[in-house]
Amino acid sequence: MEQPQANFSLMKQLIFASNNIHKADEIRALLNNGFEIITLKEAGIDIDIPEPHETLEKNASEKSTTIFKITQKDCFSEDSGLEVAALHGAPGVRSARYAGDTSNATDNNMLLLKNMRDISNREAQFKTVISLILNGEEIFFEGTCKGSIAYEPSGVDGFGYDPIFIPEGHNQTFAELGLSVKSKISHRKNAIAKMNDFLQSIK
Ligand code: IMP
Repeated sequence: MEQPQANFSLMKQLIFASNNIHKADEIRALLNNGFEIITLKEAGIDIDIPEPHETLEKNASEKSTTIFKITQKDCFSEDSGLEVAALHGAPGVRSARYAGDTSNATDNNMLLLKNMRDISNREAQFKTVISLILNGEEIFFEGTCKGSIAYEPSGVDGFGYDPIFIPEGHNQTFAELGLSVKSKISHRKNAIAKMNDFLQSIK
């Protein structure tokens, strides 16, 4: 007699400690097969995790550790920011709130351009830090994207500082270049590629 087949997936689940569906989709597109990325909402977790720390590493760690404590399951989080050399790494970990706690991307971009008005060194980089907790062990992955700060915003694609960030090797902003270029060279892409290599190596 034919035995009924168990309906289970061989995909290993990784909870992404975020409810940002755009980031989750971006990450799903970048990770190779074998891992199922589920957002907090999809995992049935309703929580808003604060980002109170002074470094991207600590904020990323806070998010993944919080989710691990709740679920005891494999999970990861990421925290990103823009670091401007002439501003000693600002806005950095405060990128989302640079112009104040209720600021939006336009406010942040305008303040950054104002603060750099008389500065000719426009060197900057985006940085992403991922904290992965796998089998209870935490591992970090970092990705950067070097570039420079434009003198005025251009382009409509993307989010955050994309209209004023010109990646190295290009003469247009991320917001002008669009996702097809950004997704190949971004800080987030570089960090995820490292996590992907690691996950593939232990499969
Ligand atoms: P988060 O870690 O994704 O929340 O990023 C914090 C802030 O950094 C965002 O609110 C943006 O202002 C900025 N940021 C992070 N990644 C990007 C990016 O890819 N493009 C533009 N801005 C970004």
